[in-house]
Amino acid sequence: MKIAVLASGNGSNFEVIAQAIKDKKIAAELVLLFSDHHDAYVLERGKKFDIPCESFELKEFSDKQSYEDALLDLLTEYNVELVVLAGYMRIIGKNLLAAFPNRIVNIHPALLPNFPGLHGIKDAYEAGVKETGVTIHYVDSGVDTGPIIAQGRVEVSDEDSLSDLETKIHQIEHQLYPEVLAKIVKENS
Ligand code: GRF
Repeated sequence: MKIAVLASGNGSNFEVIAQAIKDKKIAAELVLLFSDHHDAYVLERGKKFDIPCESFELKEFSDKQSYEDALLDLLTEYNVELVVLAGYMRIIGKNLLAAFPNRIVNIHPALLPNFPGLHGIKDAYEAGVKETGVTIHYVDSGVDTGPIIAQGRVEVSDEDSLSDLETKIHQIEHQLYPEVLAKIVKENS
């Protein structure tokens, strides 16, 4: 199965996924890394792996539709079969969703349906929850609303700072995302 990772920023999830594919823990081919920011750190990480790394930005297009059409062309060019969002900070538009039904996966740093949106970790922390976590789900047209595939739980202790909680969440992400992708690939190959 040919996988593309879409990421906007740091790329720590991209890196663990790329490494898991390289180590054959995920029986897939990583055919493309795409970022919607030319200066995203994920593109630096991409250089460590022998894969095409591409980027273009929304502002280079007349509107969101043309941007997404270009992205769809790119995914088609690389024969992508599964799209993996790893900190890709954009809503997926309807053409892309239609082209990849149940073939776009996202990771969200909270236990959905709780704390959707941009600040899942901070929102959970500020709400004072004793438990939060990570959700991997298929993407639909809503914000963090698609069918849930897997969740990982994290306890929040009274001593945890926000930064402690972020560290715990990322540790769970880095363990869970490659495991779940390995399973999805196995079930669909
Ligand atoms: C992760 O916390 C992920 O859950 C969220 O964006 C963050 C991306 O982190 N969607 P990184 O760029 O993979 O380090």
